[in-house]
Amino acid sequence: MMDEFFESVETGLSLGLEGELVVPGDKSISHRVLILGSLTVGETIARGLLESEDVICTANALETLGARIVRKGSGLWSIQGVGVGGFRQPDNVIDCGNSGTSVRLLMGAVSTSNINVTFTGDSSLRKRPMDRVLLPLTEFGTSFSTNIDNKLPIHVSGSEEPLPISYKLPVPSAQVKSAILLGGLNTRGRTTVLETDASRDHTEKMLKAFGANVIIENKPNYSEISVDGFPTLRPVEIQVPGDISSASFPIAAACMVPGSKILIKNVGVNPLRDGFLVSLIEMGANINIINKRQIAGELVADIRVIYSPNLKGIEVPEKRSARMIDEYPILSMVAATANGSTVMKGVGELRYKESDRIEAVENGLIDNGVEVSVNEDTLIVTGVPGKIFEGGSEINAFNDHRIAMSFLCLGLVSKRSITVNGTKSIRTSFPNFVELMTSLGAVLKSIKNNK
Ligand code: S3P
Repeated sequence: MMDEFFESVETGLSLGLEGELVVPGDKSISHRVLILGSLTVGETIARGLLESEDVICTANALETLGARIVRKGSGLWSIQGVGVGGFRQPDNVIDCGNSGTSVRLLMGAVSTSNINVTFTGDSSLRKRPMDRVLLPLTEFGTSFSTNIDNKLPIHVSGSEEPLPISYKLPVPSAQVKSAILLGGLNTRGRTTVLETDASRDHTEKMLKAFGANVIIENKPNYSEISVDGFPTLRPVEIQVPGDISSASFPIAAACMVPGSKILIKNVGVNPLRDGFLVSLIEMGANINIINKRQIAGELVADIRVIYSPNLKGIEVPEKRSARMIDEYPILSMVAATANGSTVMKGVGELRYKESDRIEAVENGLIDNGVEVSVNEDTLIVTGVPGKIFEGGSEINAFNDHRIAMSFLCLGLVSKRSITVNGTKSIRTSFPNFVELMTSLGAVLKSIKNNK
């Protein structure tokens, strides 16, 4: 077992990163194939499934609900489903660990089954807002008992006779959209979600692949996404593409570290997930997206990245935020090495992720001598002249995987090492991060004894 699971990782000035790599499977798609496979009668096969803590939480939860999920080899999983409406009454609480996607999608999936389920999670997940899913799911006739601020633990009493709903999302959220669509599966009639800013559409795409009737109507200012209840979902074989959110770390590192040249193969480049690539290219990054092809309904490509010495600050419009919601922390690191300021608008949702990511980015960058300002929902990072950081800082990742990996990438261009605390969290999405980055030439060292 690699030692990347230690609480702290020290990172230092690196020479060029070089090589060809694949990143682990897409986290969003991995959760969804487990859930839809569990709602299918027959055996679904997933290849390249992400084997990380978050995804394992979803698999364990689904087993508690009656599915049979077996690991057959590295990334190769078999899912024997129970069929739509077939979830059994669990005999235990479902613990979703750190995973917002697990709990929100699963609450949706069970909300229209006549069962009672209690969900909980770790201390970070128990602080995150859940009313965004409780509100629409209540309209199915589902009831919830929870504490005063609607946070976990939450007890769900599934609706006995759910009524189809039509719900307009107040904020763009693929998790909320997916929770509603999954609830719609065990509901007679047509359930509809109205979305003004398009969020990732893996659920819709996969529902179609499993045989559900999904109708998408694009209107001038919004889209209507509907699913018909009681479909017979048929088992499929799915190849999970590499996760663009995980790929964003080696991509950013290669842009920042002089002399780098890498090729990342088989990355999912769904147009609703590509905002980070679009932003980097606008900044002047040497990125080529090649060999684009469709695999199991998802757009996949290889990404070539070369050291980019002339990055410049840009304005990232609010409209792009749903397309790169998880990539703002790592974009902020790249922005710290660019000429001028990068203005990231409409990033308010970052406050509700695994940590308050605006605060974590702001504190960590300021500790490294970077100028940062936050104005309501706008985050502004100004590049450090000369692009070399003094380093020597100790960063608190607040047990947030994306904060941890972001600052580890910044450390690769710092004169003195940066120590990041809270790196165990990386297991939730990118278990071989340290191993993979080190294989490219990055200087990363796990530290056993936490201070
Ligand atoms: C996800 C949706 C996003 C994202 C999360 C994964 C998903 O969350 O931040 O990491 O798989 O649906 P929101 O729906 O809250 O924006």
